[in-house]
Amino acid sequence: MSKRILITGATGYIGSHTIVELVNAGYDVVGVDNFFNSTPRVLDGIKKILGRKIDFVEADCADLRDFEKVFRKYGNIEGVIHFAAYKAVGESVKKPLDYYRNNLNGLLNVVNLMSSSARAANIVFSSSCTVYGQPSAENLPITEEAPIQPATSPYGKTKQMSEEILKDCVYALSNLKVSVLRYFNPIGAHPSSLIGELPNGVPQNLIPFITQTAAGIRNCLSVFGNDYNTPDGSCIRDYIYVVDLAKAHVKALDRLAVTDERIDYFNLGTGKGVSVLELVHEFMKATGVNLNYKVVGRREGDVEQVWADPSKANRVLGWKADTPLDVVLESAWKWQQAIMKK
Ligand code: NAD
Ligand code: WQD
Repeated sequence: MSKRILITGATGYIGSHTIVELVNAGYDVVGVDNFFNSTPRVLDGIKKILGRKIDFVEADCADLRDFEKVFRKYGNIEGVIHFAAYKAVGESVKKPLDYYRNNLNGLLNVVNLMSSSARAANIVFSSSCTVYGQPSAENLPITEEAPIQPATSPYGKTKQMSEEILKDCVYALSNLKVSVLRYFNPIGAHPSSLIGELPNGVPQNLIPFITQTAAGIRNCLSVFGNDYNTPDGSCIRDYIYVVDLAKAHVKALDRLAVTDERIDYFNLGTGKGVSVLELVHEFMKATGVNLNYKVVGRREGDVEQVWADPSKANRVLGWKADTPLDVVLESAWKWQQAIMKK
């Protein structure tokens, strides 16, 4: 019998792509979401890709009573991938209580229900490169040993606190094993264009802003700063294809089933830093679409440059993000066109 894995945040951007990869790898999944930042239509996209429905329960992970019903309905859950969280950095500054309540209660409930209901409780946790802040030059590219810096937003703090909570719980709960995945900048969409990122309102992240500008929904992309200490002056990030990222979750679960390591940390990126201006030009080259952009002042709170050293994930998980950037950008553009037709 295949292993049943609970996916919180199942209809979200990364959760939906991960479900596809898990089912293709032979896992049996149960999805949970409260549609705070997604819609039930994502389930139709997943169904079309897989050729069948997945088990799904609408529930709020941050509400213990509501979340418990999933564990009552599905008794034999062997692992969880915990994606469900609020993720808008700027909003978290304005609504810290909402972020602490949702992101921390959700995690506490996952650990509580898993460790009390399963013989072996394997948890994969969605963390972020935000825990590293702006690394000093000698720490670039970033390994998992780089210092964790005080987060500048409540969102970032929830990720740091969650990592601490998991460390303490692993020490105390003998049936718990955890894989902490620190994502860099996930972008792109499934090649089918049936699932992808669905930003709410004006996108804060670069790629959805680029694709909406290319589609004529936004007039002009603002490039936030060209006076940074980087080769072309714009900020550098490690953009990782969401399908490659999804595959890393399969590997992390596979490993939890066999490893003696109780908690482990992995940087998930490509290992290559790309500047905002490079990305803009690569997008135009890959899609043949002209992009209206202008350089404006810096965005408050932006880190200058950050990219991953993914060699631990490459070695230990046997995983690599290797989809070429032009293919990734094309997938984001195809997805933008697909959602405009819906
Ligand atoms: P997303 O908003 O697309 O997906 C999260 C999903 O969780 C949404 O469908 C939302 O409705 C759901 N959700 C939120 N709170 C919930 C709750 N209490 N109960 C049930 N469902 C709830 O975000 P994403 O980009 O897929 O991110 C997934 C995870 O990865 C998050 O934890 C996020 O912090 C983390 N992460 C994302 C990025 C990124 O750039 N996208 C980078 C690093 C880390
Ligand atoms: C990328 C680059 C901007 C929009 C965020 C979260 C972080 C993590 C990943 C969750 C930056 C520039 C952007 C625009 C621009 N998420 N930009 N014009 O800031 O690296 O990280 O996502 O954990 O916590 O903060 O991603 O896509 O917002 O920005 O010039 O309209 O694009 O300045 O250099 P960021 P982003």
